[in-house]
Amino acid sequence: MINKLSRWMHNNDNTTKGKELDRDNIPEHVAIIMDGNGRWAKRRGLPRVAGHRAGMKTVIEITRAADELGVKYLTLYAFSTENWKRPTDEVEFLMRLPGQFLMAELDELIERNVQVRMVGNEENLPSYTVQAVREAIEKTAGNTGLILNFALNYGSRAEIVNAVREIAAEVQEGRLAAGDIDENVIGRYLETSGMPDPDLLIRTSGELRLSNFMLWQMAYSELCFIGVYWPDFSRDHFYETILEYQQRSRRYGALT
Ligand code: FPP
Repeated sequence: MINKLSRWMHNNDNTTKGKELDRDNIPEHVAIIMDGNGRWAKRRGLPRVAGHRAGMKTVIEITRAADELGVKYLTLYAFSTENWKRPTDEVEFLMRLPGQFLMAELDELIERNVQVRMVGNEENLPSYTVQAVREAIEKTAGNTGLILNFALNYGSRAEIVNAVREIAAEVQEGRLAAGDIDENVIGRYLETSGMPDPDLLIRTSGELRLSNFMLWQMAYSELCFIGVYWPDFSRDHFYETILEYQQRSRRYGALT
């Protein structure tokens, strides 16, 4: 059944104009690589960090949109294990964003029944970042609505390495037989344990890469790359990507 959810117009793009989202086919888990903050700022003659600040506004807007659409999990790639290679002042700025975001938005997230989570390695993160995120996780732990999952100091290969180490230790200590290791076992040792795999990956800015993001979990995700910088990514663009998702035929390797 197609329910009327939203109508939108996006620039002069008539291909999406007036189409409606199918309320019964909203992706349960949307993962986003929020790319293009630096280029957005450069195009305006601003420092890169101005792009990150603008990107923070997009985070709340897309969280609201996801919540209103009934998305169950929204995972946002906020800082990768590779982002440490950036200049120190940019890294420090990025590390302060979760605290700033949560200070400004936590009340609304709580009102919306949003549950905050994090994947990624807390080690190496400054204590002010960890504290802010932990506080938000604790305050929203009982919430039952949208799960807003920040990937912070996250890298998929590091996550898989850690899982393999833990599984190897279980085998070594005789708690697990090597022959019993299967995809479910591996999934349980990943940081996303208990979460469904992303149905839809969105990457903004026009880059066509996964950048070490949820490589195991995205085996069958639908990928949507959009040539809009993250600070410019609007609710309408979000609807557009979900419409594209709804037009895909997910076969998981089968013929149907
Ligand atoms: C990639 O753009 C973006 C990041 C590395 C940081 C993403 C962070 C935000 C969008 C704000 C986070 C907000 C919260 C609440 C944690 P880029 O800098 O690589 O852009 P470029 O490719 O144009 O240089």
